[in-house]
Amino acid sequence: MPKALQNFLTETQTSINQELIRQIEQLDLPERLKASMLYSVKAGGKRLRPALMIASFQSYGGEGDKALSTAAALEMIHTYSLIHDDLPAMDDDHYRRGMPTNHKQFDEATAILAGDGLLTYSFEIIAKDELLSDSQKVKLIGMLSGAAGPKGMVAGQILDMMAENKESTLGELETIHTLKTGQLLKFAVAAGAFLGGATDYQLEALHKFAYYLGLIFQVQDDILDIDGNPELIGKPIGSDATNFKSTFPKLLGMEGAIDQKNSYMDKAKEALADAEVHSSILFEITEHFGNRDY
Ligand code: IPE
Ligand code: IPE
Ligand code: MG
Ligand code: MG
Ligand code: MG
Repeated sequence: MPKALQNFLTETQTSINQELIRQIEQLDLPERLKASMLYSVKAGGKRLRPALMIASFQSYGGEGDKALSTAAALEMIHTYSLIHDDLPAMDDDHYRRGMPTNHKQFDEATAILAGDGLLTYSFEIIAKDELLSDSQKVKLIGMLSGAAGPKGMVAGQILDMMAENKESTLGELETIHTLKTGQLLKFAVAAGAFLGGATDYQLEALHKFAYYLGLIFQVQDDILDIDGNPELIGKPIGSDATNFKSTFPKLLGMEGAIDQKNSYMDKAKEALADAEVHSSILFEITEHFGNRDY
């Protein structure tokens, strides 16, 4: 990974971790709920969605902390989605971010409620952010609820569940991945660019970029579920096979999945070139999303 990207990711990780903890610590909550929310937030995670949002913000000249709270809100929604994704009724996984999953550490009811808490609090964080104008808040809350909700990630999650034990077509798999993973990534790109001052033309090109980026990210997740190093990725491998999931390697074979990912990478970079970004950071992130080993 290029040194500049490494530094950028480390810096954003530090500021996002501080912001996440600050936002939750200030709440007066039932002790068990707070402990459970903090547990999954503090378990780590790569913080790639906030990093992507801040990279997009800076790529259009954004400066300062204007994107920080919204990026933390986005990471809270992502963390909630993982807590629920790991539940016995869903993927039934026992490790996440190198630690026991939330329902293993606490119990199912607590894990469900910790997820509910992170999801809803994320919108409050945006609503009370003093660095944003009222119209920016309304726009961001609309975008984030659309991306995370029943037309977005939640739709992807149910389609993913319904595709278990079935042969999916490439088009069906693209739809699932675009929704369950792509929508939050698309929010990261679009919200960052919006706050950074991108034009409508640039935002349009970025939508195309984010579409391919979502596919790249989830294809690599599918690949890592087969040949990743569990220590590095912080979750066990083989979960998809156990659950008879529809994945790219299952449909296309490992080589075919890699070829498909590379073709998405080419298209993502083409769209990005069209989006007139001011720095190379989003190109580097695209490369990293496709080739990450954790
Ligand atoms: C895992 O996301 C779930 C997917 C949408 C593929 P990440 O790989 O970003 O997980 P963390 O946040 O680093 O734990
Ligand atoms: C999860 O996809 C996507 C969401 C949580 C929305 P996966 O089920 O593939 O994620 P992992 O592999 O458990 O992290
Ligand atoms: Mg899942
Ligand atoms: Mg899962
Ligand atoms: Mg997976």
